[in-house]
Amino acid sequence: MKLENKKILVTGGAGFIGSNLVEFLLARRGIKVVVYDNLSLGKKEFIAPFLKNSNFRFIKGDLLDKKKLGKEIRGIDIVFHLAANSDIRYGMKHPEVELKNGTIATANLLEVMRENNVREIVFTSTSAVYGDKPKVIPTPEDYGPLFPISFYGANKLASEALISAYCHNFGFRAWIFRFANIVGKNATHGVVFDFIRKLKDNPKELVILGNGKQAKPYLHVKECIEGMIYGVEKANDQLNYFNLACKGATAVNKIAQIVIQEMGLEDVKLRYTGGERGWPGDVPQVRLDPRKMKRLGWEARLSSDQAIRLGVKELLNQL
Ligand SMILES: NC(=O)c1ccc[n+]([C@@H]2O[C@H](COP(=O)([O-])OP(=O)(O)OC[C@H]3O[C@@H](n4cnc5c(N)ncnc54)[C@H](O)[C@@H]3O)[C@@H](O)[C@H]2O)c1
Repeated sequence: MKLENKKILVTGGAGFIGSNLVEFLLARRGIKVVVYDNLSLGKKEFIAPFLKNSNFRFIKGDLLDKKKLGKEIRGIDIVFHLAANSDIRYGMKHPEVELKNGTIATANLLEVMRENNVREIVFTSTSAVYGDKPKVIPTPEDYGPLFPISFYGANKLASEALISAYCHNFGFRAWIFRFANIVGKNATHGVVFDFIRKLKDNPKELVILGNGKQAKPYLHVKECIEGMIYGVEKANDQLNYFNLACKGATAVNKIAQIVIQEMGLEDVKLRYTGGERGWPGDVPQVRLDPRKMKRLGWEARLSSDQAIRLGVKELLNQL
């Protein structure tokens, strides 16, 4: 689906990935963007640069407020649904937060879209849907059975399932992207953000969750958005679904090394909380098979390590 001249609603558009997406969309010809975000995790300052743009509108609203959402959805061509609880560790202690901002928020959105005849949705899912120790590594999109071990992953999978049913029953068209870990400008969470914050507080010591051997693929936010838009514009099935990742992975220990190097620090003592996982629900080894996107014609140019280094540099300029 071509995005030129479309009116796009971005849920969660004041967040990390959302604000980068909005910047990208507004730079394209004729696109109008409405951000719908409750600012629970997003920041007004991330969307402040767009407020003067006549193609941009910000609505402070909650996806749990169906009435307000219904009002704003009218006249929209396509929804990029990014809003979610991105604080996965908090969600492990508060499953109801994941349920509300995950499955229920998605169900509300789909229902108001149906009521208002808006039928195109892009959904940001996650590698967490593949669960712990998947038997196929790197894991392709058709891997199953899918048994996530976090409430975050469980609610993403439930949202994917709802989207599939809306496609089948109500003629929706959807693009689901299962992201790697994303790094870059405006990040407010994640291991790179955590390490920089901790080392700014105490440059002598870094506490690492787990044993530091956890390894996952990291994708730079610009490439994440570029890949997502490419997928939306080129994939034409009714229900399109892709991993969005680079090849390979980076271990937490390597991330610590890159952050320490980029901050110009020396003799930092590394202290480990121990165990193979960073926290309950953490999947310590993730490798995503990126070849379905490659067959469509897109692949990440940066390696996982390169994406991290660039993300670290950008965040150091910001924090
Ligand atoms: N960052 C990553 O590494 C990563 C990896 C995989 C998937 N994702 C997914 O990408 C999307 C964006 O992630 P992010 O890292 O930018 O997170 P983020 O927390 O920065 O952005 C999420 C936004 O959603 C908003 N929000 C949350 N609940 C809401 C609600 N009920 N109503 C309205 N707004 C609400 C928050 O205020 C925030 O601005 C999320 O769906 C996330 O699960 C992110």
